[in-house]
Amino acid sequence: MNPDTTLRADADWWRDAVFYQVYIRSFADGNGDGVGDLAGIRSRLPYLADLGVDALWITPFYPSPMADHGYDVADPRDVEPVFGDLAEFDALLAEAHALGIRVTVDLVPNHSSDARDWFQAALAAGPGSPERGRYLFRDGRGADGSEPPNNWPSVFGGPAWSRVPDGQWYLHIFAPEQPDLDFTHADVLADLEETMRFWLDRGVDGFRIDVAHGMAKPEGLPDMVPMEDTGLLADHGPGDHRFDQDEVHAVHRRIRRVLDQYPGTMAVGEVWVSDDDRLARYLRPDELQLAFNFKLLTAEWSTEDLRDAVVHSLASVSGTPAPACWVLSNHDRPRHVTRYGGGETGLQRARAAALFQLALPGAAYVYNGDELGMPNVDDLPEEVLQDPVWERSGHTERGRDACRVPMPWSGEEPSYGFSSSPETWLPMPADWAALTVEAQAADPSSIQSLYRKALRLRSSSPAFAGEELQWLPAPEDCLAFRRPGGLVCLLNLSHAPVPLPEGPVLLASADVSAGQVPVDAAVWLQG
Ligand code: GLC
Repeated sequence: MNPDTTLRADADWWRDAVFYQVYIRSFADGNGDGVGDLAGIRSRLPYLADLGVDALWITPFYPSPMADHGYDVADPRDVEPVFGDLAEFDALLAEAHALGIRVTVDLVPNHSSDARDWFQAALAAGPGSPERGRYLFRDGRGADGSEPPNNWPSVFGGPAWSRVPDGQWYLHIFAPEQPDLDFTHADVLADLEETMRFWLDRGVDGFRIDVAHGMAKPEGLPDMVPMEDTGLLADHGPGDHRFDQDEVHAVHRRIRRVLDQYPGTMAVGEVWVSDDDRLARYLRPDELQLAFNFKLLTAEWSTEDLRDAVVHSLASVSGTPAPACWVLSNHDRPRHVTRYGGGETGLQRARAAALFQLALPGAAYVYNGDELGMPNVDDLPEEVLQDPVWERSGHTERGRDACRVPMPWSGEEPSYGFSSSPETWLPMPADWAALTVEAQAADPSSIQSLYRKALRLRSSSPAFAGEELQWLPAPEDCLAFRRPGGLVCLLNLSHAPVPLPEGPVLLASADVSAGQVPVDAAVWLQG
């Protein structure tokens, strides 16, 4: 059957889909400038089809001065020349669809780039002008207005306000080059809808919505309770007026109305809200189809953390039409190989975590390089660091570059087939020859081979049927659960091997042939 026809027929495809996050700068470079691009993705589509992913999430590729590597969007309805052009995007979309892969793109509604025409017009038009009304310009406090309008901090460090030459201040929850838009202004919502339709009309299958718990700000922009900075994008909970305001749900309802006009499309929200009930509100029938649950992304390698992540993620979707949505790593957080201890231990745990994640009911996101067991590169020299966090924190936080190093594809030395140039936008380590896609494809015991087998089973075996999860009794410091279709997953987090449960083994992250599940291993069985 023509995959295009199949794709359209299944409107709920996203409920149990495996999405592959392409951090565009770091996935594959098609034109030899050392920066990943659309042509690079296009050339690697056969790899992704063979790996067995259902859909892509491509991070922002729109025109941008790159103050936050594309999350500062100067024009949401075009392509940044570094990444290609609209024709290249259309070709990528058509080829992905022909291979049965859906394509979702990033939507960045909360803020624009300071280079966007709207912001430039706002600067030129001056205080009180309609042009300033699309952003959050305010007079400062203190006798001469030299104090910021409130005490909100920027997520990237420093105050969330910058002053312009005429004395007013504007709000930026992220970098100064990312002014927040005012969603009470009709133009802002209308523009967001136009952007959505622009990409939906081209044929995209959905969106990942950046800072989906932002967008609404409280009336009067009151001071917030000063709180300790618990790290980038951490959810500070009630009292943090920058996020999770009730009015944000009206924006999500508008977004959903547009999506509903394009059957088979979806949106997943980046919602850093840890309270289960607050998170559930984003998943009401007329809001988002999916919200990342970041508890698994932040969990340490412990039974408590991992079980807690699953319990809360399931609790937040129960009572909503949404399935859970699992993520181990992304471009904002340390890679899980490193989070789990790094080295051989980190890799074994990442193998086990892959089986754990992919056995859970709902949608799963795989970050590019997860399937290679890529670690963080924590020893990047200071002079190559690019994340705005590095500058904004006064060189106290290195930021997110360590988890964004380009992917190694083949060969013995940098750039390992990522680019035709040996120079890449972030340097690649000298000892990654064994990590490459090519080296791992030839090794049936590699983590890449494990992912390939796991994704095949997940999409073909009836054992994965059903969205419920039943916890099973398990040895101490182990987690075990069963899915209605019969899949049993056991994860051994203890310090000794445990007996292999009965039943045919579907897949294991380590050798279970001796009738035992080794330390830091997981197994799938047909229960
Ligand atoms: C999201 C993105 C992050 C970006 C921020 C500001 O959290 O994932 O990379 O820096 O939004 O747009």
